[in-house]
Amino acid sequence: MRSILVKEYLPSKNGWEESIFHTANGYLGIRSCSEEGVGDDVFSVLGGYINGFYDIKDISYGEKLYGFPETAQTTVNITDVQGVKLFIGDEEYSLSSGKILKYEHELFMDRGYQEKRILWRSPSGKEVYICVCRMASLVQKHLFILNYKVVPVNFSGKVTIKSSVVGDVENFASADDPRLAGEAQSYLVVDEADFVDDGISLMLSSTKRSKLQLYCAVKHRYSKAFDVEYKKEGNVLTTVFTASAKQDKAVFICKYCVFVDSRRNDNPKEKSLEIVKEAFLHPIECFMNKQQKYLEKFWDTSRVIVEGKKLQRSMDYGLYSLLCSVGRDGISSVCAKGLSGEGYEGHYFWDTEIYIFPFFLLTNPEIAKELLMYRYNILPKAREHARIMGHDSGALYAWRSITGSECSAYYPSGSAQYHLTGDVSHAFVQYYLATGNIEFMQKYGAEVLIETARLWMDVSHEKDGNFYIDSVTGPDEYTCIVDNNYYTNCVAKENLYWAYKIMEILSEKDLDKDIIKMLKISDKELKSFKKASDKMYLGYDEKLGITPQDDSFLSKAKIDLSSIPEDKFPLLLNYHPLWLYRHQVCKQADVVLAHSMFEDYTDKKTMEKSFLYYEKITTHDSSLSSCAHSVLASKIGDMKKALSYMESSALIDLEDTHNNTRDGIHTANMGGFYNCIVQGFAGLRIKEEGLYLNPQLPPKWDGYSFSLYFQERLVSVKMTKKHVTLRLLDGEPINLFLFGDKIKLKDKERISL
Ligand code: BGC
Repeated sequence: MRSILVKEYLPSKNGWEESIFHTANGYLGIRSCSEEGVGDDVFSVLGGYINGFYDIKDISYGEKLYGFPETAQTTVNITDVQGVKLFIGDEEYSLSSGKILKYEHELFMDRGYQEKRILWRSPSGKEVYICVCRMASLVQKHLFILNYKVVPVNFSGKVTIKSSVVGDVENFASADDPRLAGEAQSYLVVDEADFVDDGISLMLSSTKRSKLQLYCAVKHRYSKAFDVEYKKEGNVLTTVFTASAKQDKAVFICKYCVFVDSRRNDNPKEKSLEIVKEAFLHPIECFMNKQQKYLEKFWDTSRVIVEGKKLQRSMDYGLYSLLCSVGRDGISSVCAKGLSGEGYEGHYFWDTEIYIFPFFLLTNPEIAKELLMYRYNILPKAREHARIMGHDSGALYAWRSITGSECSAYYPSGSAQYHLTGDVSHAFVQYYLATGNIEFMQKYGAEVLIETARLWMDVSHEKDGNFYIDSVTGPDEYTCIVDNNYYTNCVAKENLYWAYKIMEILSEKDLDKDIIKMLKISDKELKSFKKASDKMYLGYDEKLGITPQDDSFLSKAKIDLSSIPEDKFPLLLNYHPLWLYRHQVCKQADVVLAHSMFEDYTDKKTMEKSFLYYEKITTHDSSLSSCAHSVLASKIGDMKKALSYMESSALIDLEDTHNNTRDGIHTANMGGFYNCIVQGFAGLRIKEEGLYLNPQLPPKWDGYSFSLYFQERLVSVKMTKKHVTLRLLDGEPINLFLFGDKIKLKDKERISL
């Protein structure tokens, strides 16, 4: 499998490189910062994060109205273990001094680690080869390993390595970008820092307001040639290694860094020491082998083969990054930037359920289940949030959050995005349809569906036999607080139907008694869900033959996007929100997304016309947009456009086309890129009647392929110029729909058309 390789060190791309090469495993993530540090003129965010490890900060408002959240959670930059300084005699190694003779930074996606290989000449002419390898273990989630190898190339002499653990860390901020925190803050306070048990650097830090604890324990393996000294200066623990190194002979230190937090562990201190001591017994190669095995299994079912090296590299990178970002413990999810940066403060959004979840559902349903468990576990918070927002019943998921309470300080494009609640329900329904796991629905899913349906009953109102939803914001954040946002009404319609339907299924299996009792559900209520779903208003504009984004959208002023200078994009950084709200301009797919998710709610003609209409007025200022346009383009059969939107989605991070990858990778788009192929090109839909495939090939492509799990079967899909081939790789025979026809895929059988 290809790797990601950078062959030149460009200070101007330092932030990008830190994000792209971050090392993560769904629990912890460390940005790829230079071990030796960078000069003040180089953009760098020295950061490490633990998924769902947060502190609380005040939100300040000029005018605070009722129900605005007073505080928000924010991800915390954790104890820094990246520091390794190298001295050749008295000369300190740095990329900004001496000469870089060779620079290679490479991420191996099939082996699960990254390596930096540098040949450096010091100002006095001494040459050293430095090889740094970093890995966040996928089998021991608390463990991050940094191996630092030095080879004197043209000299023998003194080599000193200073490896540090630093407790005083700060979060990054940018006052001008709403996608980042406004002010730099330090949230972690060091409570204890010392060397214990034969050279383990042990640091206990706690968050100021959430009162969470984090233990960081670091132990080094190192070459015999080294003498070692331990130094404590304030909250910095430094282990100093000195050797008289020989020309061409490598010396190394290997830093085993273990993080254990109190959100998930009752005795984090004991656990951190136990894990670091156990890990230390094994050389890094041992973890590398395990890592590779883990990844072999992952790639076996997850890899999507696409056309062309560049796209394949992006696809591999996206899927690998999703695996490294996804929380799998029911108390964490996928942050908008994964664990690679502080953009959006480590919050979880609808990104997970609509963009990322489909990938895990089809390739790793166990992880998909954990993502749903996160939403189930914060259901009490969603109930609380609904009350704050004025709803007497039901549950409303907070727009952006870690623990479940609202963190959005700007409600028009925050709390008003009620669609998230329907997005969550959509993910539960998709999970049920794809796995058939009725026990899960009985224990968890039904409760979420009922409570979210109650929310829609409360927020919608009935008039002349139809149900309407007023004053909400849909996915498009350039159009806020509107009536009958089409997307929102679609997710509400589905949510209400499935709350009714799941109870019918549970009742047929006699599994409904407990939940009826617990939630006091009556037949009348279930019927009211069904009625509201049937009668949910979905707009249609007769004159244009398209779907209006909401009741007022089509009567707003139009603007010609080509008249706006390029440097004014993204518009959100250059135009007042009200100006944007008054115009027919979209930040991202809204109707376009709704049409591909709910294709049976309308006809193809309307989809085609709507696509063409919204395409002209969409800026794609959000990274969640191009991929959605690609999926709908496939649906309406415009494979040229499907390909072109897919290509824009593919390049967002690796080519930094949104110019902000330095703040972190775009995880939703990575899921979206997968969806371009699977839902788009292959036309995969999971519906009540079963699995639908409608594969098409974009122009000039020879083919693509992927596998998927569906109802405990493993099926491979391969599309070539002449054939589509489906194979049942594992499991019982299954019926599915290919180009609309029902077919039966039998024992290890292959169906080719
Ligand atoms: C998008 C949202 C998204 C958020 C986090 C915003 O720019 O408009 O749809 O949820 O980013 O990725």
